[in-house]
Amino acid sequence: MIIAQISDSHIDPQSAQLKHRLEDLRRVVDSLNHLDPAPDMVIHTGDVVHNGSQEKYDLALSILSDIHVPLHVCPGNRDDRHLIVKNFLTGKNIAVDSPFLQYSIDQYPVRLVALDTLSATTNMGDYCQQRADALREMLAQEPNKPTVLFMHHPPFEIVESIYPFQFENWETIDYLTQVLKENTQVMQIFCGHTHRNVKSQLVGIPASTVPSVAVDLRLDDVPKGTTVKPAYHLHQFDGIQFNSQTVVC
Ligand SMILES: [Fe+2]
Repeated sequence: MIIAQISDSHIDPQSAQLKHRLEDLRRVVDSLNHLDPAPDMVIHTGDVVHNGSQEKYDLALSILSDIHVPLHVCPGNRDDRHLIVKNFLTGKNIAVDSPFLQYSIDQYPVRLVALDTLSATTNMGDYCQQRADALREMLAQEPNKPTVLFMHHPPFEIVESIYPFQFENWETIDYLTQVLKENTQVMQIFCGHTHRNVKSQLVGIPASTVPSVAVDLRLDDVPKGTTVKPAYHLHQFDGIQFNSQTVVC
């Protein structure tokens, strides 16, 4: 099973970079469609657009809808949860009485769970008892099936970044780590938001972030004079573990 992960396309008609961001997204979609073997699905780990409106999602979808395989999105701090539900495939277990957008994708050998890490007041990551309880319930449905989580904000420190910590505080992450300690089927955590390539872990579970599709927003240390190209991750599950690689378009 192959999961392609893209993130942080930040489509924004108000940005002077709009033309370039649309070109970056187009390059990524063309690359995804030419992969052999094709991925089983694409996950977008948030910030599809920059401050969500239907007009901006229409623009993003004019490109994203060309992807040949299913596309699933978890919300980023610049997204709008309702417009994600309206415009994209989600999955099972969305709690209709909850303000949060978390769901599971169950039809593959690996189960995927989208988490909602948005804060009501800031652009930082947040988590809480209500979200943790919903995650605990979801994971209890399939305790023996290999599972990955995908979420916008990375729940770990990025020492090489000038923005090393992306959650409001460690206490909010504790809600998540407590659930993970009780659920050994979670094998990997895929994140966005940092606009760079980072590998880390949370309670021993491998975790990573992916470069932003929007090249003008990349935060990697790129050698001077190098042309930056849009990139994404491929995560291949061999039945035991994931092997991940970065694809440069
Ligand atoms: Fe973000």
